[in-house]
Amino acid sequence: MASLSGKKIVLGVTGGIAAYKSPDLVRRLREQGAEVQVVMTAGARQFVTPITFQAVSGREVRDDLWDPAGEAAMGHIELARWADLVLVAPATADFIARLASGRADDLLATLLLATESRVAVAPAMNRVMWAHPATQANVALLRERGLAVLGPGAGEQACGETGEGRMLEPTEIATRVAALLGPEGPLKGCRLLITAGPTRERIDPVRFISNRSSGKMGFAVAAAARAAGADVVLVAGPVSLATPDGVRRVDVESAADMHEAVMRELPGTHVYVSTAAVADYRPAKPVDRKIKKTESALDLDLERTVDILAAVSAHPQRPFVVGFAAETHDVEMHARQKLVKKNLDLIAANEVGDDKVFEKDDNALMVLARDGGRQDIGPGPKTLIARDLVALIAQRWRAAGGGAPRVVPQVGAVVRG
Ligand code: CTP
Repeated sequence: MASLSGKKIVLGVTGGIAAYKSPDLVRRLREQGAEVQVVMTAGARQFVTPITFQAVSGREVRDDLWDPAGEAAMGHIELARWADLVLVAPATADFIARLASGRADDLLATLLLATESRVAVAPAMNRVMWAHPATQANVALLRERGLAVLGPGAGEQACGETGEGRMLEPTEIATRVAALLGPEGPLKGCRLLITAGPTRERIDPVRFISNRSSGKMGFAVAAAARAAGADVVLVAGPVSLATPDGVRRVDVESAADMHEAVMRELPGTHVYVSTAAVADYRPAKPVDRKIKKTESALDLDLERTVDILAAVSAHPQRPFVVGFAAETHDVEMHARQKLVKKNLDLIAANEVGDDKVFEKDDNALMVLARDGGRQDIGPGPKTLIARDLVALIAQRWRAAGGGAPRVVPQVGAVVRG
């Protein structure tokens, strides 16, 4: 899912030379999944023709409050309600002044007065006009009213001068808009750190010990958490999966790398989800040269890796901690033992085996809580299982106070009632 997927944006274009960049801005916003309706002022038409915007937006451009056909299709009040965001780019000094004084003397100004949606402006003007106390007072007033002011940037200007007043580049505006309209959901404001995939423990330059984890479940949980509004950091072992939109990914190889990355990313984390199939053992003495075969058997000395999940749970800045358990038998008993031993808030257990879970698109989870509760999710596609698991995590995290970090007593021997 693109970061502006399903979002509706009215792009107001006013009469400044930076208007030549606005068709590119339409493309950048659409690339991220937004629907864009362009509304031009009379001044904007001096710089770019409506036909250009129509071609890039795929919608007829609106530029006249008194256009009977346009008003019949979608009246200006309807347009004001339709938009999730009204973005004015470029916003000239004159338009900012009109906006600040609440004028309704053309279509764009009228719909800005009539909208209850978010409004953002990307100013563009000569540096002296920008620095003028009148403009600065108008911009301060807009900020006070809760409008987002994107830029301006500094640099060489169309008039040949250098200074502050350039419109931000379309890609930067699109990124800022995506951040402004970031997904709303039960995990809004939550920083969620998640591990996924297998780890690889090096034997020699051409061999390693690993496991069959594909990372699909973890990536699905990362995507679902992002869709629920969380700020997601995904620490991924070697997998061939695309990074979910809006998720920050840190690639690692071994259990030691993963441990280091998790500890680095932990500060400020509210929820930690450990879906990775971390190797429990690694070769004690990995070698730099390929091991040659001989007639005799080969003994490989293995040593324990760090239990990352237990380390996070025991950390002084302990977040809400969710573990996974992969079991081939006595799933509930083993999962509950892990919940207690690693002092977790929740554990999601699944049954693994020769033809179950690993590399598959479907899964089923048994989720156990430290208070003894149990909830079964699935069976079903990993994407849907992930969505339900994230909903449960959000509910439990909020019920536990929703903050971070927390000091949590060691969980006792819990028995489900
Ligand atoms: N885990 C971890 N670090 C390790 C091993 C496991 O963080 N070195 C995490 C996994 O990501 C998972 C949980 O611990 O969330 C349980 O992993 P699992 O492999 O089911 O259990 P283990 O603790 O490794 O125990 P066992 O292999 O004996 O079942």
